[in-house]
Amino acid sequence: MDASVKAGEPVIALRSVTAELGSRPVLRGIDLTVRRGEVVALLGANGSGKSTAVRTVIGQVPVSGGEVEIFGTPRRRFRDWARVGYVPQRTTAAGGVPATVTEVVSSGRLSRARFGLLRKADREAVRRALDLVGMADRAKDSVDALSGGQHQRVLIARALASEPELLIMDEPMAGVDLASQEILAKTLRAQVEAGASVLLVLHELGPLEPLIDRAVVLRDGCVLHDGPPPEAVGQHALPGHDHVHPHTSDLTPVRTGLLS
Ligand SMILES: Nc1ncnc2c1ncn2[C@@H]1O[C@H](COP(=O)(O)OP(=O)(O)OP(=O)(O)O)[C@@H](O)[C@H]1O
Ligand SMILES: [Mg+2]
Repeated sequence: MDASVKAGEPVIALRSVTAELGSRPVLRGIDLTVRRGEVVALLGANGSGKSTAVRTVIGQVPVSGGEVEIFGTPRRRFRDWARVGYVPQRTTAAGGVPATVTEVVSSGRLSRARFGLLRKADREAVRRALDLVGMADRAKDSVDALSGGQHQRVLIARALASEPELLIMDEPMAGVDLASQEILAKTLRAQVEAGASVLLVLHELGPLEPLIDRAVVLRDGCVLHDGPPPEAVGQHALPGHDHVHPHTSDLTPVRTGLLS
């Protein structure tokens, strides 16, 4: 671990970040911090700016104002991408070329491999990651032959294969059935216990709820809430459960944001 990042120090810090896409303001000055060892959920309705916020961190969306830091380094100067694992939202892993499951997951090791050569340790990490997501038996298959949920599990294995200190996942549970979600929740718990920090974009907390330390809720490019996860979602959504808990009264807009 890097001595420059002590316990509790930010591994991701966005300060007053603004971003425009197609000349429309998408982020209107957001603050978002993930500290070492923390699991932070980024929540909000469709189009609220969650993916855009995450993509400013990994440099896929330029910011027009504010600051983005990774491991205490301004994003533009950050080079140590082997420390970061990223699972994008619903994309194909292998742009047209039919790759095998092993090839896709191995690409997660490339930032660690010298001259693109995978060593024994790399192959073992790939194998472990596939085991973790329950896809080891499909290692030689083409990713074209996988279902959407299986594909998603391969993308997660790719991020895990790099054994990152920081995991950023954009809706990792989308299209994944409940049984696989439980497997992924267990996998993620092991990563967190090993010291990983995690930023998760989610639509609902689901099986990951017990892991989440803090939730940041976006609405229309602004932070609406930053604090305890809105556990109200679910039980409060049940008919007849409309009273307001004293400690969650200011979370009421959160429920709206999540369910809209
Ligand atoms: N490449 C782009 N060009 C123009 N506008 C974009 C682009 N990507 C996203 N947007 C717009 O930015 C806003 C935020 O999009 P973003 O993908 O960050 O939302 P999100 O919170 O991740 O939504 P979802 O829950 O649907 O994934 C939306 O209004 C979207 O239409
Ligand atoms: Mg998104």
